Amino acid sequence: TASTVPVVTLDGPAGVGKTTLAKRLADALGVAYLDTGAMFRTLAWKLGPGAHELPEGDLRARLEGFCFALSGAGGASVLSCNGVPVGEEIRTEEVAALASRIATLPVVRERLKAAQQALGASCALVVEGRDMGTVVFPTARHKFFLDATPEERARRRCQQLEAQGQPADLATIAAQIRERDDMDRNRAVAPLRAADDAVTVDTTSLDIDGVFAELTRHINARGGL
Ligand code: DC
Repeated sequence: TASTVPVVTLDGPAGVGKTTLAKRLADALGVAYLDTGAMFRTLAWKLGPGAHELPEGDLRARLEGFCFALSGAGGASVLSCNGVPVGEEIRTEEVAALASRIATLPVVRERLKAAQQALGASCALVVEGRDMGTVVFPTARHKFFLDATPEERARRRCQQLEAQGQPADLATIAAQIRERDDMDRNRAVAPLRAADDAVTVDTTSLDIDGVFAELTRHINARGGL
């Protein structure tokens, strides 16, 4: 409808399968894919562990120096920061924890929200994150909230890390996921939660194909993107 924008939002906690599903949806719909977690991770990586302690004015000034862009198409869309594609260096639990910490800072969220909305204004998107349906794209055409038990998410994240050749201990990952969940759900600004008009899908006992079928069923039932 005219009052909505051609965006599909996928929000949910870590390890719920958002990335795999968002890429598949972007391919199926023929639109770009944006991973907003990668934006928080990139800032965390570039700013380093001290970012949290910077005076707000200094942090604001440093944030001005980062420009994000999207290229490519579908699930293979590439996110770049200052002209350089974001790489595997941001895919560690250490960077994830830092990202979750700076994601509590209003000045960081403000800056990334503007960048995310600018990217969404230039093309149709499947976008994944924590506050896409609630804050960044409140008028998105289709909103989903994916969930799964912390145990199941830890198991999936563990498998994923092992597949990437990174050492993974289930108990450690489970503790990290709980800690990050806590921070993401309980922060004052844009906490992780389902939008009132989002469709929530519990993926605990569904495989990727099952969730994908569920998402496309909803999108098609409401006229596609
Ligand atoms: O999706 P991810 O695990 O790559 O995200 C890393 C962290 O970034 C996550 O713990 C919280 C933060 N984040 C956020 O606050 N808002 C978003 N839209 C996306 C990520």
